[in-house]
Amino acid sequence: MNNRLLGKTGLKVSDLCLGAMTFGRETSEKDSFAILDRFVEAGGNFIDTADVYSRGISEEIVGRWLKTKNRDDLVIATKVRFGMGDGPNDVGLSRKHIMAGVEASLKRLGTDYIDLYQVHAWDPLTPLEETLSTLSTLVERGLVRYIGASNFRAWQLQKAIYTSRQHGFEAFSCLQPQYNLLCRATEYELLPLCEQEGLGVIPWSPLRGGWLSGKFHRGMTQAPENTRVAEAQKQGWGEAWSRYDNEYTWGVIDVLMEVSREVEKTPAQTALNWVLQRQAVTAPIIGARTMQQLEDNLGGSGWVLTAKQIARLDEASRMPVTYPYDQAAEQQQRGGRL
Ligand SMILES: NC(=O)c1ccc[n+]([C@@H]2O[C@H](COP(=O)([O-])OP(=O)(O)OC[C@H]3O[C@@H](n4cnc5c(N)ncnc54)[C@H](OP(=O)(O)O)[C@@H]3O)[C@@H](O)[C@H]2O)c1
Repeated sequence: MNNRLLGKTGLKVSDLCLGAMTFGRETSEKDSFAILDRFVEAGGNFIDTADVYSRGISEEIVGRWLKTKNRDDLVIATKVRFGMGDGPNDVGLSRKHIMAGVEASLKRLGTDYIDLYQVHAWDPLTPLEETLSTLSTLVERGLVRYIGASNFRAWQLQKAIYTSRQHGFEAFSCLQPQYNLLCRATEYELLPLCEQEGLGVIPWSPLRGGWLSGKFHRGMTQAPENTRVAEAQKQGWGEAWSRYDNEYTWGVIDVLMEVSREVEKTPAQTALNWVLQRQAVTAPIIGARTMQQLEDNLGGSGWVLTAKQIARLDEASRMPVTYPYDQAAEQQQRGGRL
């Protein structure tokens, strides 16, 4: 793994971030510790969790593991926003919930500071100034080093950037969006905005929950049991079989398999490398349920797909160019004259 700067900050993070969403859910504490150890041994320093992952259990596991390490060597990211209780103030981005959220996360993580504190999604009920001033206070008090946003729409992120600038609040350093070969809508607005404003980008689900790992093939009629995709089908999560079992997905997987054979890498490594090489991206957040998957995914960094191979993957996963983006494409075709 290599280190990269997170957006415009001076913070150096490994170019793969380890996601802790499976910890305490599909992955036992013992296996989670082994995965964390191996990730650090391979040169990783960047770990992403959230208060809501297994209602705090993921943070607790990371916290117990942190006690066995030099905490300052690591960059720990977590999130606040989703419901952590049944009360009306146990959710959202109000000052009350953020303050309660950060205190609870610090306790579970067993640390006195969080490196990257992210708002997990937009909160339509809380004034943006209330959220941003609270996040600023957390940085001033030393409880948090940097702040980030996740799952924002582009207008929401741009508004937050300008609001911070206008009031002198701490600014978001990065965005955590979904981004992978099966989800390129992020490219319409969010990635150009992050490049323009100097925000780092740390994509979640770089393998779309396993769809891009090579274990699903044309002709299969459902996901094998004990896979994320099978569970997603039962729970109604985004990566469900019925949502992706279509010609677009299989066309992307066909080309992914071809390119991976050509570069003599696994499909997962090839799909991760494609994300890692996008101009705006700082570090994809890898998910691994097992040590074997971690070993595979670690091989996504440290080499490069050629421009031609990237172009083939781009072509197979191309998104429809709709208004207003079609105008820019036409303009480009006509050499800048419309
Ligand atoms: N901000 C947000 O809203 C948000 C949302 C989701 C995730 N995240 C973050 O992003 C991280 C990664 O997301 P993700 O877990 O969805 O990532 P992902 O890499 O797209 O999916 C991970 C899942 O795919 C399967 N898999 C992974 N590597 C594999 C391999 N080499 N071979 C075969 N199967 C493999 C495993 O599931 P099975 O083995 O069970 O099939 C694994 O649990 C999370 O841990 C979390 O930190 C953030």
